[in-house]
Amino acid sequence: MTASISASLLAWYDEHARDLPWRLPPASALPEDPAWPYRVWLSEVMLQQTTVAAVKPYFAKFIAIWPTVEALAAASDEAVMAAWAGLGYYSRARNLLKCARVVAERGGFPDTEGELRQLPGLGDYTAAAIAAIAFGRRAVVVDANVERVVARLFAIEEPLPKARTAIRAATDVITPDRRAGDFAQGLMDLGSHLCTSRTPRCLLCPLSDACAGRKAGEPERLPVKPAKKAVPDRRGAAFWMTRHAGAEVWLVTRPANGMLGGMRALPDDGWTARADGSGEPPIAGDWRSLGAVRHGFTHAHLTLQVLALETSGQPEGKGEWWPVSRIDEAGLATLFAKAARLAPAAD
Ligand code: ADE
Repeated sequence: MTASISASLLAWYDEHARDLPWRLPPASALPEDPAWPYRVWLSEVMLQQTTVAAVKPYFAKFIAIWPTVEALAAASDEAVMAAWAGLGYYSRARNLLKCARVVAERGGFPDTEGELRQLPGLGDYTAAAIAAIAFGRRAVVVDANVERVVARLFAIEEPLPKARTAIRAATDVITPDRRAGDFAQGLMDLGSHLCTSRTPRCLLCPLSDACAGRKAGEPERLPVKPAKKAVPDRRGAAFWMTRHAGAEVWLVTRPANGMLGGMRALPDDGWTARADGSGEPPIAGDWRSLGAVRHGFTHAHLTLQVLALETSGQPEGKGEWWPVSRIDEAGLATLFAKAARLAPAAD
């Protein structure tokens, strides 16, 4: 049974694998080229909590600017943070650079799951995915798509997150010794195309005969999700402070630790995911409102008032006057890029 599950899935993957820029065609021999594990690692870090569609242009940009792990390791923190801007979960970018430096120093990526797990920013999922996809190791790879497919296949009724132990054990049972990377990516493609959250297309599924969730009826019930925690609403302010008739805006770099750490940003009033901001601007003046933007973080929903002031003064603290006509190149996190869109064009 388990052998036929992996054989059916691999046969389906051979026919239906998505053509993605970081992938080889199904059943390919793995290249010796060290750029190959680099591409797999980069894509897997980008794909954590982020869709394939959102990742594609960022992956292309990073590979064009930094084609090897050594090139990335030599990049400045600012350049990498700015290139990552808009992709979210910025601690990934900080860890990406840390990891690139460690890997470049040791002369390349390690090729076992255990050693990969030791690298900065690599959790169980990423280490297993790279071991399987880049190095052809047998590894048990469980992301959210795999979790959904396997919970249904074995009708695992326990709610998440507790069900993860059983899901991992079941994935281990069906993972083949050969082609574990194709198998993992096959489960991911099945999850994103056929075994979708709301409307699984069981009639097209290569695993439908084996699927206990389908036999039990209503496979879309699985996996059982925990009750959603209420996410608090937070209020804050960001400041669009300009000089030279709106030609330049004052930008700061956020402290390395904390939310959006190391990213270029508008000054703000100190709001955090845990507390509202003070509303206090960085310098006194006749601030006017440009409106508000809303932004969802995992741990808070933020309503950010955006206030503007044209000034001839120099704000205190570290920052830089940035040409408004080149604001797109500043590498603002999405929240601040949204705020910047409320600003009037320079006179
Ligand atoms: N999500 C995470 N890793 C992936 C991969 N290798 N292919 C498709 N989707 C993914």
